[in-house]
Amino acid sequence: MHRVGVIGGGQLARMIHPAAIALGIELKVFAEQEHSSAHQAATKIGDYTDYRQLQEFAKTVDVVTFDHEHVPVALLEQLEAEGLKVYPGPKSLIFAQNKALMRRRLAELGLPLPAWQTASDAAAIEAFIAIHGPEIIVKTPVGGYDGKGVRVVSDSQQVSDWLDQIEKLGGELLLEEKVPFVRELAQLVARNPSGDLATYEVVQTVQKNGVCAEVIAPAPKPVDSIAARIIAEEIAVGLNVVGMMAVELFETADGHLVINELAMRPHNSGHYSIEGAATSQFEQHLRAVLDLPLGSTELLAPAAVMVNLLGVDDRNTFTEHYNKAMRVDAALKFHSYEKSARGGRKMGHITALGDHPAELLKKAHSAAAAIYNQI
Ligand SMILES: Nc1ncnc2c1ncn2[C@@H]1O[C@H](COP(=O)(O)OP(=O)(O)O)[C@@H](O)[C@H]1O
Ligand SMILES: [Mg+2]
Repeated sequence: MHRVGVIGGGQLARMIHPAAIALGIELKVFAEQEHSSAHQAATKIGDYTDYRQLQEFAKTVDVVTFDHEHVPVALLEQLEAEGLKVYPGPKSLIFAQNKALMRRRLAELGLPLPAWQTASDAAAIEAFIAIHGPEIIVKTPVGGYDGKGVRVVSDSQQVSDWLDQIEKLGGELLLEEKVPFVRELAQLVARNPSGDLATYEVVQTVQKNGVCAEVIAPAPKPVDSIAARIIAEEIAVGLNVVGMMAVELFETADGHLVINELAMRPHNSGHYSIEGAATSQFEQHLRAVLDLPLGSTELLAPAAVMVNLLGVDDRNTFTEHYNKAMRVDAALKFHSYEKSARGGRKMGHITALGDHPAELLKKAHSAAAAIYNQI
């Protein structure tokens, strides 16, 4: 029996679990805490930054993979040096962990990027604003997620707190032009160690307050799906990625695509694939890290949409309100992550399949509203 270990007990690990059960793969999750989203598969609770614990966990599985990007690469290199398998490997993962290194590497590969530069003092930020302003984007290269670590800035004062603790943030900030995008897209691709690639339909994503709010698969036309595919495949091959990877893209008014960031794991933009694609991104991730043949990425309906359910306060439980929400449309699919609630936190999602994205979004949003209205 294949044994896969996932570091991190979040909703991605949780959603890998049913795929593992179906395939007869033993899934072990190394969670940070007792009440994690993936608690049903948690075999170890502890601190993944402690090498001893990490090593002990890795020895119980055939391959180690991730629910998040936060495991220090030095520890993963140590695991590899001991002959333990880690996918994606540290040499690839570093580019999903650090947005400044990612920019540097993708520039080397000649891929389309926004204007960018790193900076470690106010003067360099002011100089970048003078060229690319009045507004620019400043990011902490490491540790950000869901818009935390991303600011729209017109004056270096607005990141003075980051400059004050620049050493803790890795010594530099990433500056980017504020791309005048007309929409955001995401391209998912899977790659296994044998080098096989499986590329999904490019999707449209909508972020609100830096958090993914909805996804439409496939991205409504016109869209340069060939460019999206080539970009993702070149990154997967160029960075030797193993597993699922998501490339977040900006589309500009003339239809050009530029790369925002990478995730080397299943991604929010691929949750629709559980019901909407022949092979879900979670099953695909398992197949990829085990070097099995990759599954078909074909869409199972003309369109699939996904709407995220975000926490309202620290008490709400969405599952108590299923009754009304499920009456909106019997074909809607509901996912709840069993996480402790917090305002704005991703708590679950709703997926709808059908012919017309606008209709599907309407249904999914009314079901979400039926839940929110009862909280
Ligand atoms: N250079 C940019 N120009 C315009 N908007 C941006 C830029 N970079 C990020 N954003 C906006 O901020 C969101 C979050 O940024 P991202 O780097 O993806 O951070 P996170 O790691 O939190 O997802 C993006 O989805 C996009 O809406
Ligand atoms: Mg992002």
